[in-house]
Amino acid sequence: MSRRILIAGNWKMNMRAASAASLAKGIVDAVGKNSPVEVVLCPPAAYLHTVSEATAGTSVEVGGQNLYPADDGAFTGELNAAMLTDVGCRYVILGHSERRQLMGETDACVSKKLHAAMAGNLVPIVCVGETLEQREAEETEAVIEKQIRGSLEGLDEVRAAGIVIAYEPVWAIGTGKTASKEQAEAVHAFIRGLLADMFSPGVAEQIRIQYGGSVKPGNAAELLAEPNIDGALVGGASLKVEDFAGIIAAAPSA
Ligand code: PGA
Repeated sequence: MSRRILIAGNWKMNMRAASAASLAKGIVDAVGKNSPVEVVLCPPAAYLHTVSEATAGTSVEVGGQNLYPADDGAFTGELNAAMLTDVGCRYVILGHSERRQLMGETDACVSKKLHAAMAGNLVPIVCVGETLEQREAEETEAVIEKQIRGSLEGLDEVRAAGIVIAYEPVWAIGTGKTASKEQAEAVHAFIRGLLADMFSPGVAEQIRIQYGGSVKPGNAAELLAEPNIDGALVGGASLKVEDFAGIIAAAPSA
């Protein structure tokens, strides 16, 4: 079973219109046509339109960083799945640890967003990951299992095959500390086993599991060579064409 490598850039709250357009264009040029790797850019909502225009007609795709799980209505400051697809998104990041920590997002809240994303034909990238304290207390698997079971609550087998999971140990995000390939692969294999148990082994084989947390051109190749690591969710290193292109180039060709 070969899963296509998915490299996504999470720009977080960075860029301005001009820098967003030039970063997106630089990445489009670096990726070229017929890339074996799937590439997604997730700019701030304010620049989704800019990035959609810069990537239109290319193989580079666009994703949101969040959504609100409701149809149009009185939800000041929010945007929904229909708006994301309308502005050209195919993907949406859900339950990023920064949102879990700073905005108090819970697994139940992520699950609502997941269903809204799927009903709106967006591919959700569901983020999970343990803190350093939890890892040191040997709670990693229990934490990940709780987050995955809670965030995927109510998801059926057919739809499950189309989702993406991003394993992002909180202690590795933006810290320069990357999980070793062995640490990452162990958790990815655990997640795949869990997905097999929740859905079926066949579905678990189809679900792509990205690693995230200080992925750089220098460590991407060894991480992406692991059998259960199907891509990367990249923060800091997605803000420079050279770094992000270096990560894409480090992916094993299918
Ligand atoms: P980082 O962020 O690559 O800067 O560690 C990853 C993420 O938060 O998705």
